[in-house]
Amino acid sequence: MIVNRLKIKNYRNFKEAEVELNDSLNIFVGDNGQGKTNLMESVYLASIGRTFRLNSENELINFKENKSFIEVNLKKKDYQMKIELHLEKNKRKQVFINGVKLDKTSEMIGILNNVIFTPDDMKIVKGSPMERRKFINIDISQIKPKYKYLLNKYKKICTERNIILKNYYTRTENKDIINIWNDYLVNIGTEIMIYRNDYINKLKKYSVDIYADISGNKEEFELNYLCNVGNIDNMDKECIKKHFYDKLNTNLISEIQNKTTMYGPHKDDIIIKIDGKECKYFGSQGQQRSAILAIKLAEIEIIKEEIGEYPVLLLDDVLSELDSKRKGFLINYIEGIQTIITTTDDHDLNILTKNNNKKKFYINEGKIGNITN
Ligand SMILES: Nc1ncnc2c1ncn2[C@@H]1O[C@H](COP(=O)(O)OP(=O)(O)OP(=O)(O)O)[C@@H](O)[C@H]1O
Ligand SMILES: [Mg+2]
Repeated sequence: MIVNRLKIKNYRNFKEAEVELNDSLNIFVGDNGQGKTNLMESVYLASIGRTFRLNSENELINFKENKSFIEVNLKKKDYQMKIELHLEKNKRKQVFINGVKLDKTSEMIGILNNVIFTPDDMKIVKGSPMERRKFINIDISQIKPKYKYLLNKYKKICTERNIILKNYYTRTENKDIINIWNDYLVNIGTEIMIYRNDYINKLKKYSVDIYADISGNKEEFELNYLCNVGNIDNMDKECIKKHFYDKLNTNLISEIQNKTTMYGPHKDDIIIKIDGKECKYFGSQGQQRSAILAIKLAEIEIIKEEIGEYPVLLLDDVLSELDSKRKGFLINYIEGIQTIITTTDDHDLNILTKNNNKKKFYINEGKIGNITN
């Protein structure tokens, strides 16, 4: 899919900006603090409906204004689509697809597919299991609409079940009620784990080969799903449920003591290894970056496999962190995928993309202009 045009109004430090994008490479150059990440964020917002940064929705609107607007014109296969987002301080955002207002903004997920890579993504390798679950949740939601619904439901089930665990001994009927919540937890939790297992297997399939290419076949990459109820790779649904029930039944006493649900997909993790050693603890900076790059490029391939076309790739200031061989590999890889790259220094990029079809822009104090050289 291709974003043809992006229009933003009162978004962060942009007053009003409009850009016609190229089908392949789009390079935005600018000094620190000029609006590069803000621009990237506006495209992400039109895709996922929320920011990848730690801000509230009010903070996305220009400090001096009350309303903000984003419009994306998108070419999907052979039809055009328009996504519009209206943000207003202290109000719920409104999303329109081809002029029709959505009841729930989550319905927009999957219309504009994106893969984003920012320096912050290092936390996928370095951060806590929660970061890896967050990353996998966003990814699967983009291609499997039911998954988001299951996650929301699962969260509510955990909350309700935790209330029962907290008050377990205060009401005798809780001994029966907990079984009802166990059924809910196991049924929904199992579906989530099956989605994750499928997705992580695909991620593994692509990223192992991509990493081999990145490292010139010198290093071996591994990625595995650490499912909290056990290795479910060769299990059918009923077998997974049985394992899940066993965990709950064996550990009920400690769950009551801890007053919380201790088993289920909310405790899952992904283990990433290079040459047999866990990347989080033993990987060098460059290896950790390459691991993320391999994962991000694998994400692109999965989206292509699922929906039949490439997503839009957003690379926010990540090139400067890669050595020239890896930069070269990346630029080669993304040919044929619409990409938005931001950078403070385009020197290496100019050399690497000498023969690429591209468009260059500058960003300065929230204003965008074309660079023609
Ligand atoms: N709601 C807002 N209203 C106005 N300005 C804002 C708002 N939110 C953020 N900004 C400003 O936008 C500016 C640009 O931020 P952005 O993160 O896009 O910079 P950048 O070009 O990516 O810089 P860097 O190269 O350092 O990453 C910042 O100086 C920030 O203060
Ligand atoms: Mg930035």
